[in-house]
Amino acid sequence: MPGVLLGDVFPNFEADTTIGKIKFHDFLGNSWGILFSHPRDFTPVCTTELACAAKISDEFTKRGVKMIALSIDSVEDHRSWSKDVMSVSDKAESPLPFPIIADDKRELSVQLGMLDPDERDKDGMPLTARCVFVVGPDKRLKLSILYPATTGRNFDELLRVIDSLQLTAQKKVATPVDWKPGEKVMVIPSLSEADAAALFPNGVTTKEVPSGKKYLRYTQL
Ligand code: BEZ
Repeated sequence: MPGVLLGDVFPNFEADTTIGKIKFHDFLGNSWGILFSHPRDFTPVCTTELACAAKISDEFTKRGVKMIALSIDSVEDHRSWSKDVMSVSDKAESPLPFPIIADDKRELSVQLGMLDPDERDKDGMPLTARCVFVVGPDKRLKLSILYPATTGRNFDELLRVIDSLQLTAQKKVATPVDWKPGEKVMVIPSLSEADAAALFPNGVTTKEVPSGKKYLRYTQL
């Protein structure tokens, strides 16, 4: 699959959007960014996803993350669909709080490896899958997920992973299964015991396991 790998500089693509033409890196500025793609405008699952994204957009703003969506329809369709989305979001009077990229020629979807070969439109053309790309202030890809068109995403989970990405970009820790902000984190395996003791003044606790290896190291930040 073509596309962008973790750590790659994300393409500085040009696109038509509901806020006009953008160059992606200029759009991001020094912020984090989240780009999420949708199979098509005026489709049911996509509408619920965008309505949820609109409802919790303040949470992305709080974290310094700029949001942008993509679908393979025109700006005109996006503008009309946005009104449906905001009505489903119970804010019919407000504009959609983030732009939508118009990829009606599917060029960006091909470049970013976003097409779902199993979902096709009435003309047999593949639709976009549900991709998520999180890009750091250094413009490098920090996370990507790829769901098929038939499975909607969980936007609370996206906020949770952004909390983890932003924390682990700053500190030599990793976040365990189902971690939430404020909970204990894990010391990364490459850190020596001495360095861990120096870095984490709240102490490091190690969970005993049958192998006797001391790799399950937790700390409270
Ligand atoms: C939807 O958004 O509901 C959808 C789009 C394409 C295929 C299946 C579902």
